[in-house]
Amino acid sequence: MDKETNSLNPWSSQGLADYNKLFDDFGIEPFVTNSDLNYHRYMRRGIVFGQRNFGPIENAIKTKTRFSVLDGFMPSGKSHIGHKMVMDQIIWYQKQGAEVFVGIADMEAYAVRNFSWEKCKKIGIDEYIISLIALGLKPEKTLLYFQSALQPVKDLAFELGTNVTFSELSSIYGFAGETHLSHMVSTTTQAADILLPQLEEFGGPCPVVVPAGADQDPHIRLTRGLASKMNMFYVEERNDTKSGLPYISVRGKDAVAGTLQAIQKAVLSDSSNIKSKLSKEHVDFFIENNCSESSEPFKLPESFKSLKSLIESHVQEVELSNGGYCFMEPSSTYHRFMSGLQGGKMSSSVPESHIALTDDPASGGKKVKRAKTGGRATFEEQKELGGNPDDCSVYELMYFHLSEDDKELEEIRKECVSGKRLCGTCKSEASERMTLFLKEHAEKRECARDTLSEFIIKM
Ligand code: TRP
Ligand code: SF4
Repeated sequence: MDKETNSLNPWSSQGLADYNKLFDDFGIEPFVTNSDLNYHRYMRRGIVFGQRNFGPIENAIKTKTRFSVLDGFMPSGKSHIGHKMVMDQIIWYQKQGAEVFVGIADMEAYAVRNFSWEKCKKIGIDEYIISLIALGLKPEKTLLYFQSALQPVKDLAFELGTNVTFSELSSIYGFAGETHLSHMVSTTTQAADILLPQLEEFGGPCPVVVPAGADQDPHIRLTRGLASKMNMFYVEERNDTKSGLPYISVRGKDAVAGTLQAIQKAVLSDSSNIKSKLSKEHVDFFIENNCSESSEPFKLPESFKSLKSLIESHVQEVELSNGGYCFMEPSSTYHRFMSGLQGGKMSSSVPESHIALTDDPASGGKKVKRAKTGGRATFEEQKELGGNPDDCSVYELMYFHLSEDDKELEEIRKECVSGKRLCGTCKSEASERMTLFLKEHAEKRECARDTLSEFIIKM
C-alpha cells in the first residue's frame, strides 16, 4: 500500500500490509461462504477473503446459467506456487460450469518489463499455459490467447481509451509525467481482457469473475467504471419525490434516436400493471398497484425486482441491436498472497522465496526443509510452549497447498500449538508432499504438452 497516493500499485514490489484497509478504503466486500456451493479450499479457509459483485457468479453457478472466468498472466519469469493459486481457481470455476478465458499479458510485459515478443511467447506457453493444463484445465469452452494476437482485445482497448483521461490514470495508478504511452495503454488492454467474454462474438453480456490478488484491484475498479461508461443506458432505482414510491428509470446518455421508445414499447407489451412516462433522455416505469390509495401493503420488493430484471432484459436487447455493448460490471475475488519461504515477500526473482512449478522435485523438497518455521529455539521449549503456526512457512504451505482435508489441517495446527508436533518431522512431512506434487506435476506437464493442440490458443 502506497501511503502518499493511498493507492494500490500493481507494478510495485511492495507487499500488502493491511487487508482491512481494502474494505474501508476501496469498498471490497468480505467473501463469505454461506451457501451450499462446493467451495474451493482457498475459499473455505479465508485465503480468498474479498470480493466485488460476487452475487451474479454464485447465482450463475447455482442456476447453471452462462458465466465466465477470466484471468491474465503477465509473463515475468518462472511460474510458482503463487501463480498456482490463480490457476487452481480458474480450474475450479471451470468445474462449476464457467467458460474460461486466459490471457497472456504480453503487451503489458512488453510495456512494463521491456520483454521481447519472442520471450513473452516462450514464457507464456512454457510457464503458464502448460502448467495450467497440467493442473487440470480442460479444452472445452476455453480460449487461451496472447493479448497481442487478439484483435478484439486491441480494438476494445482503443475504444475504452476514449473514456480514460490522464488524470484518472494518475489518480488510480500514480502515473506521472514520465509514464510512457504503452504503459498507459496496457491499462485499457487489461480492461479489454476483462470485458472480452461479453463481446457479441464470444456470447454477449454475462457475469464474468476475475480471481486476483488485491494488487490487481485498481484494474478491476477501472474496468467496472468503464463497463458502465461504455453502455448506452443506465437502469436506476429511484424514489418519487412526492409520493416516495420507488420507480425505475432508464436513462440514455447518447442513446440512438427511437431506442427509448423501443424499450418503453417492449416493456409495456410484456406486462400488464406497468405505467410509464417518456421524456427526452429517460423513460420511467412504475408499478401501477403500488399507488398510495391502495389498502394493500407494499408489494415490494419481489414485484419490483422482477420488473427491474424485465426492464434490464429489454434494455439489453435494444442496446445490442443498436450496436451497443450492454456490459455487466465484472465480478472479482481477492486472495491473500503467500509469504516467501524465508519470510518476507514471495517473489519470482528470488528463487529461495518460492517453489517454482518446474523446480526439480528433490530441490523443491529441500527448499521446504530450509523454510522459516514458527518453532522454538529448543526441543524442550517447543514441547512446553508449542510452536507458532501463524508465523510458519511450513504451515502456510500446508494451509495453501499441501493439505486438502480441513480436519487434517486443524489437527496439524492443534498438534503444533500444543507442542506435540516438532518442526523436524513436520518439515519432512511437508517436504515429502511437495516433492511428490512436483514429481507428479512434471509428469502431467509432459502430457499437457501433447494435448496443447486440443486447445484454442491465439498467438
Ligand atoms: N496485470 C496482470 C499481472 O500483472 C495480468 C493481467 C492482464 C490480468 N490482464 C488481466 C489479470 C486480466 C487479471 C485479469 O499479472
Ligand atoms: Fe511450523 Fe510444523 Fe514447526 Fe509448527 S511444528 S512451527 S507447523 S514447522
